[in-house]
Amino acid sequence: MEKIKTDRFISFEGIDYSGKTTQIDLLKSFLEGRGFNVFVIREPGGTAISEKIRQLLLDKKNFKMYERAELFLYSAARVQLVVEKIIPMLKKDFFVIADRYVDSTTAYQGYGRRIDLKVIKQINKAATFDIMPNITFYLEIKPGRAYERRNDSAKQTDRLEAAGLEFYKRVFNGYKKISQKNKSFYVLDAEQSVETIHKQILNIITPKIMD
Ligand SMILES: Nc1ncnc2c1ncn2[C@@H]1O[C@H](COP(=O)(O)OP(=O)(O)OP(=O)(O)O)[C@@H](O)[C@H]1O
Ligand SMILES: [Mg+2]
Repeated sequence: MEKIKTDRFISFEGIDYSGKTTQIDLLKSFLEGRGFNVFVIREPGGTAISEKIRQLLLDKKNFKMYERAELFLYSAARVQLVVEKIIPMLKKDFFVIADRYVDSTTAYQGYGRRIDLKVIKQINKAATFDIMPNITFYLEIKPGRAYERRNDSAKQTDRLEAAGLEFYKRVFNGYKKISQKNKSFYVLDAEQSVETIHKQILNIITPKIMD
């Protein structure tokens, strides 16, 4: 595959309710205000095939789904997203902002579900054709604190409760391990105010987009 420029590819990571979507919306507005084109992708989903896979993954009737089947489905959805959206948008010089990407697979399926990390690494590489974000913003918050942020509609689906606090603690520790290995991974304290976090993101992004 030809070389793709990924300097405008940004991903956001963090456990559920850490504030990813809130910060992505603010960053999108900021970049658009500066005249850039921005394309936001949310995983799993974003293409016709990926949305069908999303339905399979979220369907509560599929509780028998084996961990590796889940891993392959997330990754299959990602293949479509990379080929149909991420690569074409980067080629058009858009900023592509991913609401979760490969680090979510490592944190949730690897550390959370305990699938062999070597397997995860290979599948992540294969599913993305090695198209990796230039910057990853990780919104760090302890699972117990994120839990307190749920609103009433979230409580009905109760993702945190369904998977269990122990699972989320493993995911949290997984993200910690990832942050120690990856220098393009910026850890932000997600318990600060929305505005403070947004400013920290701009401080990191601005020098990188000036050139
Ligand atoms: N810095 C913050 N301080 C306090 N509350 C926040 C902060 N950022 C976001 N929130 C609130 O926390 C909740 C979750 O935020 P948001 O939907 O942005 O998280 P998310 O990481 O996208 O979650 P999900 O993984 O469920 O998509 C929302 O009610 C949001 O208003
Ligand atoms: Mg969100």
